[in-house]
Amino acid sequence: MGAAREQFGSRLGFVLAAAGSAVGIGNLVGFPVGAAKNGGGAFLFMYAIFVFFICLPVMIAEMSVGRNTLKDPLGAYTKLSNNNRGWNIAGWLSIITPFMITVFYLVITVWIFGYLIGAATGNLDVLADPAHFGSFINSFDIFIYMSLVLGFVYFILQGGVKQGIEKAAKTLMPALFVMLIGMVIFVLMQDNAMAGVKYYLIPDFSKIDSGVVNGALSQAFFSLSLGMGIMITYGSYIDKRADIPGSAKLVALTDTAVAFIAGLMILPAIFSFNPDIKPEELSESSVGLIFTFLPNIFLALQTSIGYIGASAVASVFFLLVFFAAITSLVSIFEVPVASLMSTKNISRKKALLVCGLLLIVLSLMCAVSFGMVSFFTEFVNYAGVNKSFFDVVIDVFYDTILPLNGLLICLFVSYRWKKHNLNKELENGSVGYKSSLFEKYVDISIGTFIPVILFMILINTIASKYFGVILIG
Ligand code: PHE
Repeated sequence: MGAAREQFGSRLGFVLAAAGSAVGIGNLVGFPVGAAKNGGGAFLFMYAIFVFFICLPVMIAEMSVGRNTLKDPLGAYTKLSNNNRGWNIAGWLSIITPFMITVFYLVITVWIFGYLIGAATGNLDVLADPAHFGSFINSFDIFIYMSLVLGFVYFILQGGVKQGIEKAAKTLMPALFVMLIGMVIFVLMQDNAMAGVKYYLIPDFSKIDSGVVNGALSQAFFSLSLGMGIMITYGSYIDKRADIPGSAKLVALTDTAVAFIAGLMILPAIFSFNPDIKPEELSESSVGLIFTFLPNIFLALQTSIGYIGASAVASVFFLLVFFAAITSLVSIFEVPVASLMSTKNISRKKALLVCGLLLIVLSLMCAVSFGMVSFFTEFVNYAGVNKSFFDVVIDVFYDTILPLNGLLICLFVSYRWKKHNLNKELENGSVGYKSSLFEKYVDISIGTFIPVILFMILINTIASKYFGVILIG
């Protein structure tokens, strides 16, 4: 075998890198809107329960599999199952899924980068025009921004685990926290901000139905970067003395805190712009909110702080989202890159090049599926809906295979690798874990109700996405 496996340099580096993966567009925009629409404080409470009682054990299981095997997801499944054919399929899924999610996440990151440049170069008024987004995503500029974003990702990943991923996380994450807090303080000083805070925090339990529960759990799962092989890969870069349960708790806490604080930025901003707004009127998607609604809010600030001030606030916001997106993008692309490096025994640069070329081809297919090329725009039709190539990637990989991967890792750890091995791995480096209540909880839940819940989400998604049948909703 080649050189020793790369490693993170410190616990803080590992936690920041994993938190960098977890904190993404979902936290900054998806979560606040989901919370506002679905019962405010009641949603927050339910989300926190899901993060700590359902998602955290899955994160811990993923990290342990990585650290025990010191391998990428495919290598880990192969090793712990003694090269069992069936489990190798699960290994393949946990490489193909992150690759395909990189494809769609890259496209959204490219749009964010485009809006960042737009705001920073004095074009906030253009961004605020409701027609702009449609023309922007179909313009040639997309290709230029895509090359630049790919350049950043390449630059970070070619540095490797310590000098690339860890260094980027240690720089970008603190900057992100500072910008987020700064934005919250600024927004809370605006008129009517408190109306937004109230709407965000006052619980309304009547809004919680089975559809909201399903959505909140899926959101928590995606937000913690589970089911993508990321935590397996990052887990393989930590040493035996590292405390996995403790680190995973910190990652989950940071991710949830950022999502919560982001709500204190987004909702007061919306209410101060339009005090009479009903959150039901907010766009269904995060995309609509980021690219049409928010630029308008920023532009409206020009009456109080001038056009330059408004552009500065918008630029900070887009920079914040961009940093969150880049650290997530890096983590997810590292999975196929690491797998290729170890299966083919090639250098990081070569693996990056091969995966990068494939990524460019597939991302271009996504990027032109909003009208530029009709073959990709009207790619298929199912459940009575026309779907673009971009939609298909989201439906198949994000909505369907992600919970499936989560289900598979729970079953794998519990019934193939076996729980006493999981416990032994977790006790390594975590003094208080052995015989703790938390150990008992993880031990019981990971092989029983967590996989059952993930299975229910999966069935519900398949029924509604592909057959138009609503089972829970
Ligand atoms: N956790 C990220 C978010 O909330 C999701 C993500 C992570 C997406 C890693 C891609 C890669 O946006």
